[in-house]
Amino acid sequence: MQNTSDTDPGGDGFSDGHVSAVQALGTTGIVHRPVGPAESRSASRLWWDADADDYQATHGEFLGDVRFRWCPEGLVESEAGLLGPVDGRDVLEVGCGAASCSRWLATQGARPVGLDLSAGMLRQARAANARSGVDVPLVLADATELPFPDARFDLACSAFGAVPFVDDSAAVMREVHRVLRPGGRWVFATTHPLRWAFPDDPGPEGLTVYHSYFDRTPYAEFDDDGRATYVEHHRTLGDRVRELVGAGFELVDLIEPEWPEGHQEVWGQWSPLRGALVPGTAIYVCRRD
Ligand SMILES: C[S@@+](CC[C@H](N)C(=O)[O-])C[C@H]1O[C@@H](n2cnc3c(N)ncnc32)[C@H](O)[C@@H]1O
Repeated sequence: MQNTSDTDPGGDGFSDGHVSAVQALGTTGIVHRPVGPAESRSASRLWWDADADDYQATHGEFLGDVRFRWCPEGLVESEAGLLGPVDGRDVLEVGCGAASCSRWLATQGARPVGLDLSAGMLRQARAANARSGVDVPLVLADATELPFPDARFDLACSAFGAVPFVDDSAAVMREVHRVLRPGGRWVFATTHPLRWAFPDDPGPEGLTVYHSYFDRTPYAEFDDDGRATYVEHHRTLGDRVRELVGAGFELVDLIEPEWPEGHQEVWGQWSPLRGALVPGTAIYVCRRD
């Protein structure tokens, strides 16, 4: 992706860490072009199923089996407390991947449910459930059509899950609003929108603007038949605020985690070099009316 799966839109090829998914899918090119809901869903399933094992091998140790990390900057919920009290709360994790955040929430007395579009990522989640002995419920579904009744949850969260990968992220906001109880919080992290303008390069090449921040045309990787194998959608900061307000949320805070001194972990395009200069993550803290 533009970021968390470490491909390389502004560089000269695809990520080193995700070569096997690129090869398995026969990805041959990169383009900015319109990508609708069905093609986005299909590309995300293809990508995350193909990349699940590499993603876990590359990032699993940093993420931990039972840890709630919001972002490559390393911010953890045990210190940030962005969700507020979780004990006894029903919590939905959107785009849970291997569901480390849900397992951490379970150890804090919450009742989490992890939801993801990718069977491959949920296979990693089941393996981590078994490894850790913290067994959280997992649901295979699309974030734009949540398979839950109205007002099912007290809280919802997402660490880089689903939101950047759907064509209609306003629909995700509306769905999360629907399944939350009044007063519930929706806290989600995405790549900071400013990063759209820069190449996904953790080094000095990643410091020069190459693309318009205002160009919302999706980023897509494709195979020889033109089939999208990976897609990312961009919203400016203003777009995102309008989506949230339009769905009925109040934006309580916007966290832009700073790169911690001494933190050396490079995650795709996130690095100490860039982190010192440009925000890499935006965390939206919202309250349902
Ligand atoms: C960058 S990974 C993040 C995973 C996990 N939250 C983490 O912190 O490692 C993005 C996740 O979003 C999921 N995803 C993408 N599109 C989705 C959709 N439309 N609905 C639900 N999940 C989706 C992917 O399958 C993948 O597991």
